[in-house]
Amino acid sequence: MPDLVTRAVETPRSAVWLDTGGASGPSVLAVGDTRPDQPTCFALPPIYPEWLGDRALLAAHPARFCYVVGEMARGIATPRMVVAAVQAGCFGFYGSAGLPLTEIKTGLHEIRSALGPAESAWGANLIHSPQEPGQEAAVVDLFLAEGVRRVSASAFMRLTPDVIRYTALGLEQQAGGTITRRNHIFAKVSRAEVAEPFMAPAPEKMLRELVASGKISEKQADLASKVPVAAEITAESDSGGHTDNRPAAVLFSSLSAARSRVAARHGFDESMIRIGLAGGIATPSAVAAAFQMGAAYVLTGSVNQSAVESGLSEAGRKLLAKAGPADVAMAPAADMFEQGVEVQVLKRGTLFAMRGKKLHGFYRAGASYETLGPADRKWLDDVLGEVFDAAWASTKSYIQRVNPAEAERAETDGNKRLALVARRYLFQGAQWAREGDTKRTADYQIWCGPAMGAFNEWVAGTPLDPLENRSVRQIALNLLEGAARVTRAGQLRAMGFPVAPQHFSYTPQLFE
Ligand SMILES: Cc1cc2nc3c(=O)[nH]c(=O)nc-3n(C[C@H](O)[C@H](O)[C@H](O)COP(=O)(O)O)c2cc1C
Repeated sequence: MPDLVTRAVETPRSAVWLDTGGASGPSVLAVGDTRPDQPTCFALPPIYPEWLGDRALLAAHPARFCYVVGEMARGIATPRMVVAAVQAGCFGFYGSAGLPLTEIKTGLHEIRSALGPAESAWGANLIHSPQEPGQEAAVVDLFLAEGVRRVSASAFMRLTPDVIRYTALGLEQQAGGTITRRNHIFAKVSRAEVAEPFMAPAPEKMLRELVASGKISEKQADLASKVPVAAEITAESDSGGHTDNRPAAVLFSSLSAARSRVAARHGFDESMIRIGLAGGIATPSAVAAAFQMGAAYVLTGSVNQSAVESGLSEAGRKLLAKAGPADVAMAPAADMFEQGVEVQVLKRGTLFAMRGKKLHGFYRAGASYETLGPADRKWLDDVLGEVFDAAWASTKSYIQRVNPAEAERAETDGNKRLALVARRYLFQGAQWAREGDTKRTADYQIWCGPAMGAFNEWVAGTPLDPLENRSVRQIALNLLEGAARVTRAGQLRAMGFPVAPQHFSYTPQLFE
């Protein structure tokens, strides 16, 4: 028979009857529905995983849990993953970034036909794409045409007219004056200065231009000047893929302070802006801590990449399952190689990060293939799996199609040629990982944050250890169940009860 504190932690859905006690200190009298016959006793109410987070979020976007399965580029967050997330009672964002429009459209149809037109707990990703002029507008057009009502906007350093257009077109004023949204933005940010414009109303100048070009109406512009651009802000702390490597606790506090500033400046109620937390969320303690900090919702990424619904190959998922928290590294991003932008990737089991960094080192030093020494040239040919000239020929025919000016410049600029060939290699690294090309394991580019290792440590030796059991549903339900227990343990400890360290841990199980 477990002691009462253990039972109180293990059954968070039960009330706990307490007595603050006298000289002997506080005591747990009973766990369950029946009130003990003790006049001074009082109840600690049940905790349900469904109650963790901001319930106003669930009113705005009906779902069971304040838990979001985050978008993962190039369809790694597959339509199937989104459907599984929603069917588990969570939100899901489709990994539409980097996919051709036709494929995005097919994915959206797949999600809608599986979930039905009334289901609203899902959306897709609008990624800032400065290198591809017109792409954001085309994606927004597609989302509007397809009735995508929730968009996670990411990588934006500032607002763009297409973001404003999407949100403004969904604004309506109800009879009582309340402004409602049909198109919702979840803005993913990792800095307060980027978050603030999303928390504030759309800039007047941008609204005027959108009205002048006939893209939104006067009424929509007026409504957009009265509400935050995004009611949902996802604080992206140290995560897989593109990341500023911010610590979660620091970022969340910083964005909370930004919300207070913006709300005061614009006369908003702070509850008009909800902040969710992403990055490093992979254990019950992390989920509980996020909610304890005041996060409206949590968003997971890396852990879902190892799930059965992931678009990553089985070979890639097997590597992920072996990672520890320190088995990640920053490596050059394929699309912003020249600018020195980096992404967080899996280090263990692949040489991608090391090779990518060495390539970037050559580029930064101003080298071209022709100026490299014989040993470095050989290394490069080996990494590419073909001689540099052959790699350049394939790269050139692609670049000539998508960016002829860049291709022309590279003809006379060896350093640029090196960069373009390196970019192609980095890009292929992600493709080889998705496809599970066994000849290219050493070159797999798998975006991954330390969350993956924390998850692996937590589930080691439990039913969530085998890859085949890692569905987004099992992952989410275990994290949330565990978070409810950790929350209960924390409550009891804050009330003065001796709570053992093991009460803050939870062993995963398979849910029905
Ligand atoms: C493989 C992978 C691909 C990702 N692709 C995108 C993306 O296309 N757009 C985006 O906003 N975030 C992307 N993310 C970030 C996730 O949506 C999520 O915010 C992040 O992974 C949370 O941190 P975590 O990795 O520590 O769980 C990606 C993450 C991973 C692991």
